[in-house]
Amino acid sequence: KMIIKELLGDYKKILHHDITIQGWVRAFRSNRFIALNDGSTIHNLQIVVDFDKLDESVIKNIKTASSLKITGEVVESQGAGQSIEILAKKIQILGDHFTEDMEKTVLQPKKHSLEVLREQAHLRFRTNLFGSVFRVRSAVSFAIHEFFHKNHFFYINTPIITGADAEGAGEMFGVTAFDLNQIPRDENGEVDYSEDFFGKKTNLTVSGQLEAEAAAMGLGRVYTFGPTFRAENSNTTRHLAEFWMVEPEVAFNNLENNIDLAEDFLKYIIAYVLKNCKDDLEFLDKRFAEEQKSKPEKDRAKEGLIEKLENVIRKRFKRVSYTEAIEILMNSKENKKGKFKFPVEAWGADLQSEHERYLVEKHFDAPVVLFDYPKEIKAFYMRLNDDQKTVAAMDVLFPGIGEIIGGSQREERLSVLQDKMKEMNVDEHELWWYLDTRKFGSVPHAGFGLGLERLVLFVTGMTNIRDVIPFPRTPNSAEF
Ligand code: 4AD
Ligand code: MG
Repeated sequence: KMIIKELLGDYKKILHHDITIQGWVRAFRSNRFIALNDGSTIHNLQIVVDFDKLDESVIKNIKTASSLKITGEVVESQGAGQSIEILAKKIQILGDHFTEDMEKTVLQPKKHSLEVLREQAHLRFRTNLFGSVFRVRSAVSFAIHEFFHKNHFFYINTPIITGADAEGAGEMFGVTAFDLNQIPRDENGEVDYSEDFFGKKTNLTVSGQLEAEAAAMGLGRVYTFGPTFRAENSNTTRHLAEFWMVEPEVAFNNLENNIDLAEDFLKYIIAYVLKNCKDDLEFLDKRFAEEQKSKPEKDRAKEGLIEKLENVIRKRFKRVSYTEAIEILMNSKENKKGKFKFPVEAWGADLQSEHERYLVEKHFDAPVVLFDYPKEIKAFYMRLNDDQKTVAAMDVLFPGIGEIIGGSQREERLSVLQDKMKEMNVDEHELWWYLDTRKFGSVPHAGFGLGLERLVLFVTGMTNIRDVIPFPRTPNSAEF
């Protein structure tokens, strides 16, 4: 038994031998040629049906989308575009296809819109496009582990159920073990969590960072890679309620080291995909080019998908302080002509995605790392700079995506951290354990968070984040 990827990769040794292969029928032409796919690669394997050797009743039942087990001889192919084919000697139908139901599905061999494919997320794995996207997603995940492994990081797992709101943004999904019909309340009508499973109010994690910091204070270099939850009610093509985040945290690193790490890390993953996902990228590259053709000239991408990935690896990311960025934005033609939805009026303004995209796509035409943001618009744990106005924050902005990474050097000085928590209303008692890490051998340290799906969007050239995670969770959508 073999999978198609193995077979196509190294067929010389098995030419003229019999093998067994299993997969789904993508097409059945002239009652003679089956295009079989098993998900291992974008390529279909051509199966040639020999009428003399096979039972007619079986051949009659071979239909698109049904699954087959085939035994036959591996021979060199005469047809263009394929190296080998299988002369089938035995075909067994494993799973039939229900013709009437199939007419309503995306398995029907014609072009389906991404919206329709999304409604049938359970079937879209069978299409060329989603096969490619999810193979690339898997390769990206593997490259992430490989990068950290090579750089002597330890993979740690942080809790999914937690009492902490690491980002202080209040966008959390609560967790309770209460019978929803009998939630205990005190005399003021407030939920009484003392009777809950955990004896306190808990939520699904919005970030593993605070726990990762504690781990870095003992293990030095760590990273987390897990599901993350945000109850933000933003229905955009860049936000999910459940996404996967990678969070490295490194003891003894400062902001500059952190930016270097982020740049090396992103380039490593992109290079890995270019090297290891050639077939899928070629397919995605063609799709991307097709998609550009249907757009008005001014909205078309300047470079192809593969070209874009190669260029990102070559160029050094632009490093720009928040203060410089605000200057650029305030003086831009766009701002002066009132083209921004949110005009940039003064230092201190939070940057909107239109501003980030202006910087990346128009002004610098390269990935940009913004650093040293005003303390008021960033989280409590970021290290206060000597100017007392900014914190050692960094965001990596990518063309077509906007923010792909957010991170910072952390505030390691206990009293400065405590003052900051008071200012920002972060409960010291809740985070007693986090403060402990600043009491016993505190050291400068830094880390960041990468949204996996945003990176997968970038490398696949897809445009909606719902199309790069198998079963997307967004407002009003938890069908599967
Ligand atoms: O900028 P964020 O909120 O930073 C943190 O959570 C820090 N604790 C990370 C750290 O320093 N350890 O999120 C980090 C990244 C963003 O840059 C973005 O790529 C992604 O996570 N992200 C989302 N991706 C999809 N859907 C959402 N709703 C996301 N929110 C953030
Ligand atoms: Mg952020």
